[in-house]
Amino acid sequence: MSTMTQAVPRAASGHPKLLSGKDAAAAVEEELIRDVAALKAAGIAPGLAVVRVGEDPASATYVRNKVLAAERVGMRSIHEHLPETTGQAALERAIETLNADPAVHGILCQLPLPPQLDPNRITRLIDPTKDVDCFHPYNVGLLSLGEPRFLPCTPAGILDLLQRGDIPVSGQRVVILGRSNIVGRPLALLLSHKGWDATVTLCHSRTRDLPQLTRQADILVAATGIAEWVTGDMVREGVVVIDVGMNRVEDATRKTGYRLCGDVHYASVAPKCAAITPVPGGVGPMTISMLLRNTVQAARLRLPA
Ligand code: GUN
Repeated sequence: MSTMTQAVPRAASGHPKLLSGKDAAAAVEEELIRDVAALKAAGIAPGLAVVRVGEDPASATYVRNKVLAAERVGMRSIHEHLPETTGQAALERAIETLNADPAVHGILCQLPLPPQLDPNRITRLIDPTKDVDCFHPYNVGLLSLGEPRFLPCTPAGILDLLQRGDIPVSGQRVVILGRSNIVGRPLALLLSHKGWDATVTLCHSRTRDLPQLTRQADILVAATGIAEWVTGDMVREGVVVIDVGMNRVEDATRKTGYRLCGDVHYASVAPKCAAITPVPGGVGPMTISMLLRNTVQAARLRLPA
């Protein structure tokens, strides 16, 4: 095993390099505008259907942003908004209708769902060739074998940000906080594959001596959903930090009554970092871009062989 380490140079100013998802997402959208136009020229207008159930305010914002982004790159988008009291059978019928619609290439059902609904049954019902979230067990299986048809959106966005930021990954120690099926676990899978070649530690609520592990990280990914949980004493100088968190914390000084913050306590962590993602404007916009990229990929599956 190679013992070579590749240091990420710190910015000359002594400030960390900001890994801007906003800028990266704008660049990806430019590519997607061309991809969508090429598909339309070939007779396929990519279409994305987003299903939302109920009135979760964060989900409403995410879905609005996804639909707007789809429209910006010239895709057809359908926003199917079902009432909070929707039953399992009604949601399943809505998904089956979208599965059968040839104008719909990508389907996602925004999570979390109201408690009467079973998200696992919905995930398994979405046609795997339209599963642009990459949540279907078939697609997760392909991913785990290193033969992905789609890449899960948030992990793919993180990899893209690392690449665009010239952050070395091969041989590096990556510590991931949070083992969710949406972020932590699929990211661990991807980074451990040949080509990325990271050494990955996937941490969770039962992990012992966590700060000792996080202080060994060359790249630390925080995906716990706990506001400002990672503090400066938990990281080493020169670390690259990816903050997946998007938390609302009460703030009486704001008009909205809250402010957005990540899972990382930015003020104490950022001064020690070689590079860090801001919140907002870091991982979030990339997740949406990767969803659109998967929708283009799903539309390409319909091109004649
Ligand atoms: N809820 C939070 N993140 C996601 C996501 O990436 N996809 C879906 N469908 N729901 C989510």
